[in-house]
Amino acid sequence: MTISNAVLSALRCPKCGAAVSFDGRSLFCTGARRHCYDAAASGYINLAPEHRAGGDSREAVRARSAFLGRGYYADAADAIASLAEKYLADRANPILVDAGCGEGYYTNRLAECGTVCGFDLSRAAVEAGAKAARRRGIDAFYAVAGLYNLPLFEESADLVLNHFAPCAEEEFSRVLRKDGVLIVGAAGETHLLGLKRVLYDTPVLNAPRADLPCSMRLLEKRRVQKTVRIEGSADIAALFAMTPYYYRTSEADRAKLAALDVLETEIDVELLVYGRQNGKDDR
Ligand SMILES: C[S@@+](CC[C@H](N)C(=O)[O-])C[C@H]1O[C@@H](n2cnc3c(N)ncnc32)[C@H](O)[C@@H]1O
Ligand SMILES: [Zn+2]
Repeated sequence: MTISNAVLSALRCPKCGAAVSFDGRSLFCTGARRHCYDAAASGYINLAPEHRAGGDSREAVRARSAFLGRGYYADAADAIASLAEKYLADRANPILVDAGCGEGYYTNRLAECGTVCGFDLSRAAVEAGAKAARRRGIDAFYAVAGLYNLPLFEESADLVLNHFAPCAEEEFSRVLRKDGVLIVGAAGETHLLGLKRVLYDTPVLNAPRADLPCSMRLLEKRRVQKTVRIEGSADIAALFAMTPYYYRTSEADRAKLAALDVLETEIDVELLVYGRQNGKDDR
């Protein structure tokens, strides 16, 4: 495994905050304790080795990889890449961070816009992202890390993507450069309504995300909406497994979905772009 100098200079030890160096096998911090984090053969580093549980399971990761690989969310990936291009247009060698990157569907796409780092607490997801990047010859750095304690120095990132993962506003503000941007991906009100119509008698529209940034400056909103036709019970099951409904739907309601061969459903993703600084704090 190799780690670019750009990534190495942005990284800091998640335990003591010191700078790090990499010898090809392990990442060492330069602090007094010389904390050490080994690289996995599949091409990622575990920067949260004490974290045992949490993040998505292998089953959920497999389901999401299979589903995303079919391109149902390609429009969302295109929109994210075009926003990144727009906001990073005038920057040389920007650093992009995918916080809660899952198995790297968007991370690997963002590699075309600069140096990209994907962080997630799910080891299975990070491993899947690293393997996909390697398979496709994409240069992306992956690590197991919590998004409330990103292993990055202050003001080291040009862009943070936070797509359908918890939004740690303070932490994202800490790692973003003053002129950096945060892109938050959230479910629009009709997201997966077709799926919910099958599962529930009275499906309700999605409420806005409750954890949107409150002290950053909203620069732009973009909405990606389409209806997709999902064919085959495997893809339908894969979509279901990557939703929160998977964990809170009764057996009887699950059976309704399992009986389908085709599902038509809305994809409705809201992308909100924030500047790090609120207008009143600009100096
Ligand atoms: C719904 S998935 C979205 C993954 C990816 N961003 C995407 O859109 O395909 C949410 C991800 O957030 C991760 N996650 C949840 N809490 C986290 C935390 N505190 N630190 C890092 N990752 C976290 C989960 O492991 C999971 O991979
Ligand atoms: Zn350290």
